[in-house]
Amino acid sequence: MKDALRDCSLDESKFNMKSTILNHKLIPPPNWDRSGLPAWTYFNDELFELEAEELFRKHWQIVCHVNDVPVHGSYVTFDLVGERALIIRDGNNQIRAFHNVCRHRGSRVVNLAEGRCKSAIICPFHGWSYNLDGSLRGAAKANNFPELDPQKSGLKMLEMEIWHGFVFVRFKPGPQSSVAKLLDRFDEEVSRYLPDELLQTAPIECTSPENVNWKSIRDVDNEGYHVPRAHPSLNDLYGKNYYDEPFINGVSRSFAPFNEGSGRLWSVRHYKKLLDQFIPPYNKFSRAWLYIGVFPNFVLGFYPDSVIFYQEIPFSVKESGIRGATYKRPDEDRTMRLARYLSTRIDATAIMEDKQLSILSYEAMKSSAFEGILLSDLEYGVRTHHDALREILPVMSQEIEPPSGTMVESNNLNRKTSPNEVYDG
Ligand code: FES
Ligand SMILES: [Fe+2]
Repeated sequence: MKDALRDCSLDESKFNMKSTILNHKLIPPPNWDRSGLPAWTYFNDELFELEAEELFRKHWQIVCHVNDVPVHGSYVTFDLVGERALIIRDGNNQIRAFHNVCRHRGSRVVNLAEGRCKSAIICPFHGWSYNLDGSLRGAAKANNFPELDPQKSGLKMLEMEIWHGFVFVRFKPGPQSSVAKLLDRFDEEVSRYLPDELLQTAPIECTSPENVNWKSIRDVDNEGYHVPRAHPSLNDLYGKNYYDEPFINGVSRSFAPFNEGSGRLWSVRHYKKLLDQFIPPYNKFSRAWLYIGVFPNFVLGFYPDSVIFYQEIPFSVKESGIRGATYKRPDEDRTMRLARYLSTRIDATAIMEDKQLSILSYEAMKSSAFEGILLSDLEYGVRTHHDALREILPVMSQEIEPPSGTMVESNNLNRKTSPNEVYDG
């Protein structure tokens, strides 16, 4: 997408503002509010409980790709704010999503992040067994129980949707539409990357908890202003052309066409050289990295050589990890494999750099000298994410932290719209 003039007026009707993109530059609306969320929103345990309920349980979460569960009985698990999901392929080749909660006493029915149950899911606690379609096969020593209905006592189903091969779950009904509708403006652009065929390169990983609120990680990721200074390799790859689009209806797009020229750093120079050797259809791919951000906490990344996702996992108000994976193409040749190796290396460096930045900005908010933030036009994406948060949790607009025990009440007092009216459609 190298169009010199791309006048896409972005309809941010929910925020009564219009921004424009010209020459890969996002022009925010005039006189926009450059402040961020108040510091207390990054430290308050009661607000964290509201976030868990209204954001994380009620918004779609990416879990894996269908090819992460390639054969019957293969599964992936996913934990978030006390909820536990199990994605499993059943005997009829259907992908299913359940709560990873035994109907006997609630144990996880599978304990690992990924694995395979050959013909049944057997709870590690007392050995209740479930068929791959979730129905109860039998309780251990069943004569000690009244008769159990296989369906009623089966694993609880979880709302699930598959979009271009990626599997999403939602723990509770929420204000977003279906994933397909939410992301439909990307259908054509994403399908060029042949996402249905992707294969896992390594098990999905979650980093161990860092002392940082999840929003501080997202705030760093929602702007490219820091790229020239903080990410030498990303800057060498695409620093001149990168731009972020604001959140619209809870979804944002960032596009990073590569800088012209060969590149200063070894990894970038060789990465670009390898891309030049790609064969059809991959030589037709944009020489760019495309990121699609989905509110509140995850990103899909589409590269010429691979596809990635990453998401913030909040463990508590002050502890978070990052979960993610990289996918390759089934017909990957040696050239593409090397290119993927280099893009992964560039990414891994940037992730470490971002981790440090998010910890620095989180720590800063504790200082008595901290007076909030002042966003540049290049950080408008941070503002639109904060606006989206305020729409769901209006108490975040309050400069003064609500007294202990009043969070829910304060949130309701600040509310002008129902959470279900936040999204179009
Ligand atoms: S908790 Fe699963 S069998 Fe008892
Ligand atoms: Fe970054």
